[in-house]
Amino acid sequence: MDLLDTTHRPPEGANPDWTIPQGFESYSKAEHDVWIALYDRQATILPGRACDAFLQGLHALDLHGEGIPDFERLNRRLCALTSWRIVAVPSLVPDDVFFDHLANRRFPAANFIRRADQLDYLQEPDIFHDVFGHVPLLTDPVFADYMQAYGQGGLRALKLGRLHNLARLYWYTVEFGLLETPAGLRIYGAGIVSSRSESIFALESASPHRIRFNLERVMRTPYRIDDFQQIYFVIPSLQDLLDATIKTDFGPLYAQLAGQADIAISGIEPGDVVLSRGSQAYAKGRVTQ
Ligand code: PHE
Ligand code: FE
Repeated sequence: MDLLDTTHRPPEGANPDWTIPQGFESYSKAEHDVWIALYDRQATILPGRACDAFLQGLHALDLHGEGIPDFERLNRRLCALTSWRIVAVPSLVPDDVFFDHLANRRFPAANFIRRADQLDYLQEPDIFHDVFGHVPLLTDPVFADYMQAYGQGGLRALKLGRLHNLARLYWYTVEFGLLETPAGLRIYGAGIVSSRSESIFALESASPHRIRFNLERVMRTPYRIDDFQQIYFVIPSLQDLLDATIKTDFGPLYAQLAGQADIAISGIEPGDVVLSRGSQAYAKGRVTQ
């Protein structure tokens, strides 16, 4: 999602829906090696940290560490499981184009990969974030439906002028969501699962708050795009997330939100179900340094 206005045209050579060829044949050995390096790091730390649905999806898609995946081959497996497909797009597409793809069970992914000196952090999503991070969960039927519903909800939020509220739902679920399981907290958010350092921070640091997911609370909470999150929202199950969102008409909720102030990013609200109250030490350290 970005701030481009929706009258923007796709770049030269792109299709009207902004899709482009992946260009699988053009990746260099060095680029495949970056994928392998990133994959190997995550493969060692994610068992016991990522949720089962993610790990099973990774396995089902055979997203092994042999290099950047070919979307055509990947789509055969993904499509057979949940009727989702991956499409390559330029790094930023207009919001309405992004939502329309999701609403039609197409996941827009970047086709470029970060450089070898950017393994730890990259602000712009690359193919590793988009495919390794997002696609495994699209093999889960419940999450697959959630993402499609989000696309439909996005088109509606755009019309109602409440995209800033809905974007927070994406951020705190699809990108940075945590899941409560009998074995402990697990990661399902793509922004966490594609980052070695945040995979550890999100679960093990005493700094961030971890709070039970609540739709209205999430939509009132700003987020940071430049550093580890200060707050994570925890869902009891993917089914709960789907139920809480598709069974709710966001229209009245948006109307209510229009009259309410945002919640401070490090704040705890009276109604919050706090699983762990963070010290915020990490975030405070970053501000004063
Ligand atoms: N139910 C939401 C609406 O009425 C749409 C939605 C579904 C949004 C699932 C996000 C996720 O707008
Ligand atoms: Fe993402």
